Amino acid sequence: MRYDTPGLERWNSRVHDSSFGYVSTQGEPLVDLLDPQPGERVLDLGCGTGVLTAQIAFRGAEVLGIDGSGAMIEKALAQYPGITFIVGDAHDFTVARPYDAVFSNAALHWMNRPDAVIASVREALLPGGRFVAEMGGAGNCAELTTAMLTAWREYGLREPELPWYFPSPAEYARRLEAEGFVVRLLEYFDRPTPLEECPGGAGDWVRMFAPSALDGLAPDLVEPLLQRVNELAAPALRRESGWMADYVRLRFAAVRR
Ligand SMILES: C[S@@+](CC[C@H](N)C(=O)[O-])C[C@H]1O[C@@H](n2cnc3c(N)ncnc32)[C@H](O)[C@@H]1O
Repeated sequence: MRYDTPGLERWNSRVHDSSFGYVSTQGEPLVDLLDPQPGERVLDLGCGTGVLTAQIAFRGAEVLGIDGSGAMIEKALAQYPGITFIVGDAHDFTVARPYDAVFSNAALHWMNRPDAVIASVREALLPGGRFVAEMGGAGNCAELTTAMLTAWREYGLREPELPWYFPSPAEYARRLEAEGFVVRLLEYFDRPTPLEECPGGAGDWVRMFAPSALDGLAPDLVEPLLQRVNELAAPALRRESGWMADYVRLRFAAVRR
């Protein structure tokens, strides 16, 4: 698994807001779980275009948004000029003064060195500070990725490296505890999600979420390959109402010892 800056820049900030607005919309209950208090200092890790960062600020907290993508941060700054946003890598960031809470929605599964991320979060928190986050969990998008890998195999292609880290609840809890957190809440649940902005179905999903898998392929191969992904994924994921992604989420609240 690899996640680097060029990959981050694939997260086109315009597409993120229009096509993936649901990412932030579905993050609202996580802000409720964080329950930011007026005057608290909160860090939003992997903040994207800052939609949830702004919700946290709206509740009266002083918030800093960090994201690895310069394009995301540019858009966040333009949209929410009153909030501080900076470019930074979650694996390796430091803060001048520790925070009351670190928040993260739909970002930790893009980070392939989880212990480094958790250690950086710990150092960014006051003792007793909370780490509240949601990410893809084990089995997330299993139908989508199985269809993808099968199609690649059928075409005689080398299986692409998938960029995500989808841990089981036990694994992530163990990592949190090993890095000095007490896990107070851990939820692991299915969240079938309409692929409203992927009219081309599973193939569109590959283009949007795993574009690196298409790197280096002959251009005339891409269409039939993605068509095959659709055929393979359709029995599980295509409904009368449209395509559904088989999302599985891991949500937790942990406290720094
Ligand atoms: C699906 S978006 C979620 C954005 C936002 N949290 C939301 O809920 O709308 C994932 C974000 O994680 C960021 N990200 C991925 N890896 C990162 C890393 N190593 N350091 C900082 N940000 C990262 C991406 O740039 C992207 O903006």
